[in-house]
Amino acid sequence: MQEKLKKISDDVLLQIEKVTDLKALEQVRVAILGKKGELTAVLRGMKDLSSEERPLIGKLANEVRETIENRLDEAKKTLSGKMREHQLQNETIDVTMPAKKIELGHRHPMSIVLDDLKDIFIGMGYSIAEGPEIESNYYNFEALNLPENHAARDEQDTFYINSEMMLRTATSPVQVRVMEKHTLPIRMIMPGRVYRSDEVDATHSPVFNQIEGLVIDENITMADLKGALAEFAKTLYGDAVEVKFRPHYFPFTEPSAEVDVTCVMCGGKGCKICKGSGWIEILGCGMVHPKVLEMSGIDSKKYSGFAFGMGLERLTMLRYSIEDLRLFYENDVRFLKQF
Ligand code: DAH
Repeated sequence: MQEKLKKISDDVLLQIEKVTDLKALEQVRVAILGKKGELTAVLRGMKDLSSEERPLIGKLANEVRETIENRLDEAKKTLSGKMREHQLQNETIDVTMPAKKIELGHRHPMSIVLDDLKDIFIGMGYSIAEGPEIESNYYNFEALNLPENHAARDEQDTFYINSEMMLRTATSPVQVRVMEKHTLPIRMIMPGRVYRSDEVDATHSPVFNQIEGLVIDENITMADLKGALAEFAKTLYGDAVEVKFRPHYFPFTEPSAEVDVTCVMCGGKGCKICKGSGWIEILGCGMVHPKVLEMSGIDSKKYSGFAFGMGLERLTMLRYSIEDLRLFYENDVRFLKQF
């Protein structure tokens, strides 16, 4: 029995020495001192010993247990210390490492151009209005002098919600809402998102942005229209730019025109972008049709006005020499970073 105890003790002490982590140490403890442990079994067997042997062996067994317990404690302390040290070494903060850069976002190129455009018109005394993107047949077509079966409706094929409601095809319906609600005179721009069932390509998107303009007062003439829009074009694209008014047709204006500026890419020499003509169209405009005024309750004998509409994508493409409008919607930061 004495020998057995000694062997158990020697074995265990050797094992403890070899252990390298706390988990393994706990396993050793359980194997010897646990309920089913080796030493526990020996102590249980004491009852079978003779009364002479029992105190001797009992004493020895207790000594062995104490020694083992002490060694286990010591080993535990050493291992915990080592682990802590290891942890401290690995978790130290290297203050010489470069800091993580926090990237700041910034305005989208179209927002930059829209803000500039708002500044220009606010500077000329205009205010800003908005209208709904889901419009009725009346506001989107009828009130703009585009009755049922008008050929121009084909060009503005859109997304219908039902036979009466649709996604607006232009910001022009906001003109009607403004005329109905606001007291005269009116001097407003109306930016917003518009929809047409177009295929996506470098210059078309089923969702795009327009800016509408409307001025109504007594004695407004074509000269006011030309002055305001030429001033706008020169402020946006620089004094060197030339502005041309070309006759055109829109159902809601009479007379109507399109405005061209000398090509901002080639300066008017002719290039791929202006298809060799040296000119680029930037907007549609005209004197508000008397019928349109009357439909919105404005006396066309007393009041007259002009209106204009332009595409924000196009203005932005010309401003920054961007050749494909899809870049605006892709949100590729390598593109967006440049503005
Ligand atoms: N609504 C026209 C379009 O989407 C643009 C336009 C042209 C608006 C002439 C106007 C205007 O207000 O007078 O193509």
